[in-house]
Amino acid sequence: MQRREFLKYGTLTVTGLALGGGAVPFVPLRRARADDGGVAGPSPPTSPFVQELPIAPLHQPVAPFATSCPTSGNTLFYNVHIQEQLHSFHPQLPDNLIWGYNGITPGPTFHARVGQPNVVRFFNDLPANHRGFGVPNTVVHRHGGFQASEDDGFPLDLFTPGTSRDFCWPNVSPGNDVRENEATLWYHDHLVDFTGPNVYKGLAGFFLMFDDVDSGDETDPNPAALRLPSGDFDIPLVFQDRAFDQNGQLIFNTFEHNGFLGDKFLVNGAIQPFLRVARRKYRFRFLDGSNARFYEFFLSSGQSFVQIASDDKLLPHPIVRKSIRMGMAERVDVVIDFSGYPIGQEVILQNRLQQNDGRGPSDEGLVSPGTPILKFIVTRDAADPSRVPDPLRPLPPILLDKVGAHRTFTFDNSDGGWVINDRFFDGNRAVAFPQLGVPEIWTLQNEGGEWSHPIHIHLESFQILSRNGQPPAAYEAGQKDTVVLGPDDEVKLYIQFRTFRGRYVFHCHNTEHEDMAMMARFDTT
Ligand code: C2O
Ligand code: CU
Repeated sequence: MQRREFLKYGTLTVTGLALGGGAVPFVPLRRARADDGGVAGPSPPTSPFVQELPIAPLHQPVAPFATSCPTSGNTLFYNVHIQEQLHSFHPQLPDNLIWGYNGITPGPTFHARVGQPNVVRFFNDLPANHRGFGVPNTVVHRHGGFQASEDDGFPLDLFTPGTSRDFCWPNVSPGNDVRENEATLWYHDHLVDFTGPNVYKGLAGFFLMFDDVDSGDETDPNPAALRLPSGDFDIPLVFQDRAFDQNGQLIFNTFEHNGFLGDKFLVNGAIQPFLRVARRKYRFRFLDGSNARFYEFFLSSGQSFVQIASDDKLLPHPIVRKSIRMGMAERVDVVIDFSGYPIGQEVILQNRLQQNDGRGPSDEGLVSPGTPILKFIVTRDAADPSRVPDPLRPLPPILLDKVGAHRTFTFDNSDGGWVINDRFFDGNRAVAFPQLGVPEIWTLQNEGGEWSHPIHIHLESFQILSRNGQPPAAYEAGQKDTVVLGPDDEVKLYIQFRTFRGRYVFHCHNTEHEDMAMMARFDTT
């Protein structure tokens, strides 16, 4: 039974569903219910800053294996085992069974190079009969990547426990144009109707791309190299919220269709960790990997962030920002320079954005000091050969005179679910047939009143032409693959599909909205 079929049954009781559906995963919550949309919890108390920030290991290639993927002499091959394993969210909580790529959450980080394809064999080693929420079928989407339809994680292309599937990630940019080269991607489960519980259970990881410009080497002698902070000073940070029951077990409410919020704040799978830093510049790759939570980050010292990338692409110029607001699935790469602090200084990364339910940020807006998320402790000196040059990476042109199609998509709620142009997701029905090479203008309209929807389009990033009739702010005037539609917002964007023909999707990345059908298929032709 697929989750959106629940809609047909109206307000069935939980028992009724469990009897009718058999395998319907449901974990009851004490406070959060499907009809009130609040924050789950309270979770048991945990002390902040008692554990070190985990940093996922770099994933290592294996010897080449036979595959149906196209390969070339320099292709890198990887195995990933999707497993149920014990995970510690916090030393004061018991270990929890999670689902992880190679059994860890977040999964191993890929470092890839433009021009060097990857073949990744994902083994679904999840238990066919498990306890609790989540559905052990899976499909993998590399969010922000250029990849063929069958390698894109189309939500119906699932593979079951005991089987594997090769994903061919070509790591080439349209037209081999360096302006299109990517930086911070992530990979996650994209199972139809159950992406929310599966990602919440741990199925997400980073995929970072490098090229000769963003080369991942701050001492690179190549004059074209940007020499951004690299190696140990280039740290991906995924922000997620989670809820736990009184026994310290992870809980999720499959019937919270508005968006599930937790009251514990994780960075890289750990609740409120700390990171010892040197007196120098760091690149942090922020990812809002939450199901339904928006963030606005501040540094307790009042220092600004230097933003260098939005979603999958570097910006044309660095931007100095006091705070960084993020919706689900958005990435923001920032540089923070700790060289101005004395050794011993502590700086807290705070989330000051108030959110009380799945609708999005609440009317209270910002609160101070907000929730402490991560503590930086300045502990040492270190050499700093890195730079933040200006310009970074130029934008490709917007060719308005070449635009061949205008499309409008409205995002709304309906009958307890979520619709695009008044329809629920149907994987067998495409709503648009963009032609490769022909630029288009898409108008995205939020009709849903007070709701916020971060909309993600697969396959190509886009450039925002206007938000509510105004030109976009500098931080969203670069290339993006996800755009937040706030209440009543209308965003016009320029997009051009150029690479692969086939079926793809766009959808809200509030995973509960996505699972309740705020998704549509389009076919590039
Ligand atoms: Cu990050 Cu369609 O997903
Ligand atoms: Cu939404």
